[in-house]
Amino acid sequence: MAVVLKTAEELERMRIAGRLAAEVLDFITAYVKPGVTTGKLNDLCHDYMVNQQGTVPAPLNYAPPGYKPYPKSICTSVNHQVCHGVPGDRVLKPGDILNIDITVIKDGFHGDSSRMYYVGEPSIQARRLVDVTYECMWRGIRVVRPGARLGDIGAAIQAHAEAHGFSVVREFCGHGIGRRFHEEPQVLHYGKAGTGLALQPGMTFTVEPMINAGKPAIRELADGWTIVTKDHSLSAQWEHTVAVSEGGYEVLTHSRGTPPPAS
Ligand code: MF3
Ligand code: CO
Ligand code: CO
Repeated sequence: MAVVLKTAEELERMRIAGRLAAEVLDFITAYVKPGVTTGKLNDLCHDYMVNQQGTVPAPLNYAPPGYKPYPKSICTSVNHQVCHGVPGDRVLKPGDILNIDITVIKDGFHGDSSRMYYVGEPSIQARRLVDVTYECMWRGIRVVRPGARLGDIGAAIQAHAEAHGFSVVREFCGHGIGRRFHEEPQVLHYGKAGTGLALQPGMTFTVEPMINAGKPAIRELADGWTIVTKDHSLSAQWEHTVAVSEGGYEVLTHSRGTPPPAS
């Protein structure tokens, strides 16, 4: 299926879904502390989405081809977990780093965003990885404008990650998003500038680089979802949903608590 361009009215609904996804990340921030379980964070977010926001948690029972239905409402990926970490009875401890990935459906449209959280004080290496990954996401977002190519996004992200001695996960990518959770195009976080699809106003997609402190290789755990680094090195990820606008880009997953853009 081809890339879906959103109308002005659809973009308005994407803005609402995007803000609501970001507001779940705001809401959960105060609960990320030593001693809490990832399952408790899931339950708090689920309740907030369903009962406070009137949104549908898109991950719950999500089953793309080849996967069993995802059993929870959010993804919580700790330390060497790269993405799709399934919440459960794991207790967070000081020094852990955690990605929380939220996707809501509101009025037929999806908003998808993730942030990194520190449990207590992070190590110097962990902080550096999280900061570099944030800058990677922003370097990818900042090249978005009509006429830019998808390869420009990947190249900007890859260059920054590798300049810091980190590596880009290849198996997962950003994605078009709208009425469906994952639409075309695939937004790779590595690649060659000047190649790939030319961006047009009305496209909506995510930029969500997964950056490893060590080697890029990953593997899937027996739960069929959780992805970890093969070498057990730390991994970080940040995600925004963006729209291509006439003048460049618009970040759709913005809320009061969204961290300021990387400088
Ligand atoms: N939110 C993830 C993404 O950014 C997808 C999670 S799929 C799930 O694309 F089923 F694990 F929730
Ligand atoms: Co996404
Ligand atoms: Co996501």
